[in-house]
Amino acid sequence: MRFLLLLLLLPATSLAADSTCIPCHTQITPQIVNDFRSGKMGKIGLDCSACHGSDHQSAEDIDKVSIPTEKTCQPCHQQQYDQYMDGKHSLAWMAMEAMPKTGLQPHA
Ligand code: HEC
Ligand code: HEC
Ligand code: HEC
Repeated sequence: MRFLLLLLLLPATSLAADSTCIPCHTQITPQIVNDFRSGKMGKIGLDCSACHGSDHQSAEDIDKVSIPTEKTCQPCHQQQYDQYMDGKHSLAWMAMEAMPKTGLQPHA
């Protein structure tokens, strides 16, 4: 029920019915689209933009893609977010980010 309420609060752009992402990415990254559709988040009608935003719309503006962090998941998965932040994985992550090289790795 909590998830249903959350879904009602989502901007329309996050819903697959209005997706611009999936038609194009079915050509560009078909496996990612398949993976996404096979999971609950895809089946429930969420769209790629729930995690990647909707500012990127073509091959010319790929730099506008949002790359998710744990903060992206928090609004919909508060409990998992809290568990993660309370646990040592998040501390390990901070330690890793303090290193000169790993700090440059993709955040997710
Ligand atoms: C008209 C085609 C098109 C549309 C529409 C489109 N994309 Fe893309 N997208 C691309 C192309 C081309 C790439 C680059 C693929 C590559 O370099 O292998 C890309 C790359 C990406 C990447 C990877 C970025 C990276 O840094 O590696 C993500 C994430 C992404 N798109 C998400 C989305 C989302 C979310 C939407 C909808 C809001 C969307 N795309 C809409 C064509 C599109
Ligand atoms: C806009 C809301 C939203 C966002 C943002 C979101 N999720 Fe979800 N997620 C959901 C919903 C709704 C479900 C389905 C829950 C259910 O049916 O129990 C789900 C399910 C999942 C599942 C279970 C998938 C399965 O197929 O069983 C995982 C894992 C998950 N989310 C991880 C993440 C991660 C990691 C992030 C951030 C990178 C994230 N989610 C961001 C709404 C969201
Ligand atoms: C639950 C959150 C979530 C959703 C929804 C989601 N992605 Fe992603 N995506 C991620 C994460 C996390 C990464 C890895 C980012 C990194 O490497 O730091 C990623 C990476 C990517 C990449 C880059 C892959 C690579 O090999 O570099 C592409 C392309 C992409 N996603 C496309 C999509 C498309 C298309 C959809 C919808 C069909 C989608 N994503 C939906 C979380 C999500």
